[in-house]
Amino acid sequence: MSKLLVTGAAGFIGANFVHYWNKKHSADTVIALDNLSYAGNKESLLALDVNANFLFIQEDIINDKEIEKILREYDIDTIVHFAAQSHVDRSIHTPDIFLETNIMGTHSLLKAARQVWLIENQRKDVRFHHISTDEVYGTLERNAKPFTEEHPYKPNSPYAASKAASDHIVRSYFETYDLPITISNCSNNYGPFQFPEKLIPLVLLNILNDKELPIYGDGKQIRDWLYVEDHCRAIEQILLTDHLGECFNIGGNNEWENINLVEHICSLMDNVFENNQNLQEKYPLATSAHKKQSKNLIKYVTDRLGHDRRYAIDATKSNNVLGFYPQETFESGIKKTVLWYLENEKWWTNILDGSYKQWIANHYK
Ligand code: NAD
Ligand code: TYD
Repeated sequence: MSKLLVTGAAGFIGANFVHYWNKKHSADTVIALDNLSYAGNKESLLALDVNANFLFIQEDIINDKEIEKILREYDIDTIVHFAAQSHVDRSIHTPDIFLETNIMGTHSLLKAARQVWLIENQRKDVRFHHISTDEVYGTLERNAKPFTEEHPYKPNSPYAASKAASDHIVRSYFETYDLPITISNCSNNYGPFQFPEKLIPLVLLNILNDKELPIYGDGKQIRDWLYVEDHCRAIEQILLTDHLGECFNIGGNNEWENINLVEHICSLMDNVFENNQNLQEKYPLATSAHKKQSKNLIKYVTDRLGHDRRYAIDATKSNNVLGFYPQETFESGIKKTVLWYLENEKWWTNILDGSYKQWIANHYK
C-alpha cells in the first residue's frame, strides 16, 4: 500500500488523478495538497471527503519546511507533482508567478523530498513524479515529425519556459542526489473539472451563455488532445514501473486545428440541444444552440503573443515501454466532457460568478 502526496490536487488534472487513484487503488492513502489559487477548487474533491484514507491539506509547495512535516507525518513514499501555474495567456501578462511557482515551487518540493527521504531516512523505495507538458519542446512545422523524448527543448512562452526549467531541475536531482524521479510530458488534456479559461470548457460555457467564441489569429494552430483519464492512466503506469530518471511523452495521437475543433464542439452542442426540451429549459440563454447555430458565435480575435503553431507527440516510447495507449476516442471523450459540463452547472457557475469574472473582463476588453 502506497502513501501519496498529490500536489495541485484541487486543479483540473490533479483532481481527476485523485479520483482515478481512489477508484483503482482504494487501499492507498492520498494526501491532496493545494494552495487553492484561483484554479484550485475544493468542490472538485468533495466526493472523496468521506474516505478515511483521503485528506486535503491547504498548503503552498514553496514552503519546503511545511512539506517536510507532511512527508514525515504521513510517511509519504510517492509525490505526484501537478501543482503549477498552467495558463499560457496568464504567463504572458504575469510571468513572475509562473517562475516562482513552477521553478522555485518545484525546487522546494525536491529539497523537502531529498531532506526527508534521502538525508533523514536513506530511502530508495520512493518516487517523485513530475508532471510536465509538450510545450517545453516549442513549436512544430505542419509537416514536421512529432516530438520524441529526444527532441531539443525550445520553450516559447513564459509558462513553457518555467516548465522546461522545472524539468531540468527535477532531472538534476536524479543525477546529483540519486533522488528516484520520473517525468512525463503530456499534450493538451480535456475532460471534467477543467477551469473555463482553457479552450474546450471556454467554448462549452460560452455556448451555454450565448457569448462569443474567441479564436486567436487564423485559428489554424494545431493541438494534440488527450482525455484526462487517459493521462491519469499513463501516470499510473509510470508509477507502477521502475524507469527511474526517465521521461515519457504522453499524447492522444489526435491533432486538431483550433477552428475545426471549435466548429466540431458547436455542432455537438447543437445536436444535444436539438429536441431536448429539458436542456432548452435548463439553459434558456443558449439560444444559438437551440437554433442549431452555435457556429455563429465564433469570432476571430487578436492572436496570442508568441503563439505556438503546432504541438504533436510521438508516443512510441510510452506505447512500447509502458504499453500505454489512450482508451478513449476523441468522439467518446468529448461527449463525456460535454455531458459533464451540462450536468455540473453549479461547479462552473461558482467559478464564473467569482473572481474569474474580473479576469475575463480585463482579458477580453
Ligand atoms: P490547473 O491550473 O487546473 O491546476 C493547478 C493546480 O495547482 C491548482 O489547483 C492550483 O491551485 C495549484 N497550485 C498552483 N500554485 C500552487 C502552489 N504554489 N502550491 C500549491 N498548489 C498550487 O492545471 P492543470 O491543467 O491541472 O495542470 C496540472 C499540471 O499538468 C501542471 O503542472 C501542467 O503544467 C501540467 N500539464 C497540463 C496540461 C493541460 O492540458 N492542462 C497538459 C500537460 C501538462
Ligand atoms: P489552451 O486551452 O489555452 O491551451 P494551450 O495554450 O496550453 O495549448 O489553448 C488551446 C489552443 O486554443 C491554443 O492554440 C490557443 C487557442 N485558444 C483560442 O483560440 N481562443 C481562446 O479563447 C483560448 C483560451 C485558446
